[in-house]
Amino acid sequence: MSKSDLAIVILAAGKGTRMKSALHKVLHPLGGRPMLHHLLETVDQLNPTHKVIIVGADKEQLEASVDGKAHIALQQPQLGTGHAVDMAKDHLKDFKGTILILYGDVPLISEATMRQMIDVGQKDEADVVVLGFKPQDCKAYGRLKLNADGRLDKIVEYKDANEQERAIDLCNSGIMAVGGDHLFALLAALDNDNASKEYYLTDVVEIANKKGLNCAVVEADQFEVMGINSRSELAQAETVFQNKARQKFMDAGVTLTDPSSVYFCHDTKIGQDVSIGPNVFFGPNVEIDNDVIIHAFCHIEGAIVGSGSSVGPFARLRPAALLGKNVKVGNFVEIKKSEIEDGAKISHLSYIGDARVGAGANIGAGTITCNYDGYFKYKTDIGVGAFIGSNTSLVAPVKIGDGATVGAGSVVTSDGADDALVVSRAKQKEISGWSTTFRKNQQAKKDK
Ligand code: UD1
Ligand code: CA
Repeated sequence: MSKSDLAIVILAAGKGTRMKSALHKVLHPLGGRPMLHHLLETVDQLNPTHKVIIVGADKEQLEASVDGKAHIALQQPQLGTGHAVDMAKDHLKDFKGTILILYGDVPLISEATMRQMIDVGQKDEADVVVLGFKPQDCKAYGRLKLNADGRLDKIVEYKDANEQERAIDLCNSGIMAVGGDHLFALLAALDNDNASKEYYLTDVVEIANKKGLNCAVVEADQFEVMGINSRSELAQAETVFQNKARQKFMDAGVTLTDPSSVYFCHDTKIGQDVSIGPNVFFGPNVEIDNDVIIHAFCHIEGAIVGSGSSVGPFARLRPAALLGKNVKVGNFVEIKKSEIEDGAKISHLSYIGDARVGAGANIGAGTITCNYDGYFKYKTDIGVGAFIGSNTSLVAPVKIGDGATVGAGSVVTSDGADDALVVSRAKQKEISGWSTTFRKNQQAKKDK
């Protein structure tokens, strides 16, 4: 095993009581997926050979969510952050590379920052690298004490710090990279003789210095190391995540009229020259091709939108809404599990579910695919170039042929052939002068 090998330890044994939730804190979603999975994905970019997650209560929830993507080690009882890291020993006792210690509730740390810490550890020959930051408000964070040559001397917990130490503005994020050849020996030397009666991970710095090892600091942006302990901090982290996503898409050639009102998912894919109006929400699994306009107030999830298409305002695309090229979906249209082929138009007030709409077909306002009988779902198939008149109910399963026309107001219960006219409504009749007679009679009754 070489020094360049990497192992990850993620602490997640804390109870997270401030979330007031039955769901484990690190499983609360950020950008549409559990915060822990953000961290795991970032970490995977560094190809670690080992990943160990330290858990306490709700172990089963974490196991189910992690689904074999990392080892799970139990810390019971929780005697502090140093004790927590020690729980990874069984998995890492022969590991001599770099061990990067992360926190499940600090999910926004970037790959670049992790890499920088690892590099300092390897090139700079530091045995312990601590990630520091300078927040606007230093609150109760641990403080990093540097010596004259800028090396890290020790970390003082806020509770244990004197006034001079509390005045230090360089804070401890908690994240640390330690050489695998030293970590567990350092942890074995910890005691809990402090204000919290806990085994502090932070004390490894002082112990390492006493052993003649080197300790260094890497400084991070405060947004990268923000911890999530409450719903309010979760919302703040979501804002950080969204702002990053908005910037990424704008840099890649997407116009956002009002960036702060557009919400992306971690996996949203958007092409170039796409324009997105205000108040648009993207759920999971969305792909938008080039040259698409998404007008204001659309809710889109699990959908593919082909190039040149226009969606909204006020449209809802639900899972498996698959729009081809140059499709038009207008206001108050909902589409679910349907293939809308190139150039088809569904411009107003329609529900299209479990359907195929052929290329170039025109779906009139108020058209509904009646796809469900309370037990099963059925398919509606609309042919290429078909014209569906306004206020049509297509009672599935039903098929309208290529080039067929359905008269407005029809309730269609059986198939219509290619190029046919399908109309199902009472025949229009006219009685001349009926209204004149009606008005005369009614007025006479009223006047009595
Ligand atoms: C810790 C640091 C502090 C730093 C701060 C950043 C220590 C002693 N102090 O303080 O310097 O400024 O983080 O937020 O490390 N955990 C376990 N098992 C335990 C205890 C904690 O897994 O026995 C996990 C928690 O789930 C949490 C993280 O470790 O995610 C931090 O623990 P917490 O008790 O919140 O430490 P702080 O007091 O915030
Ligand atoms: Ca904390």
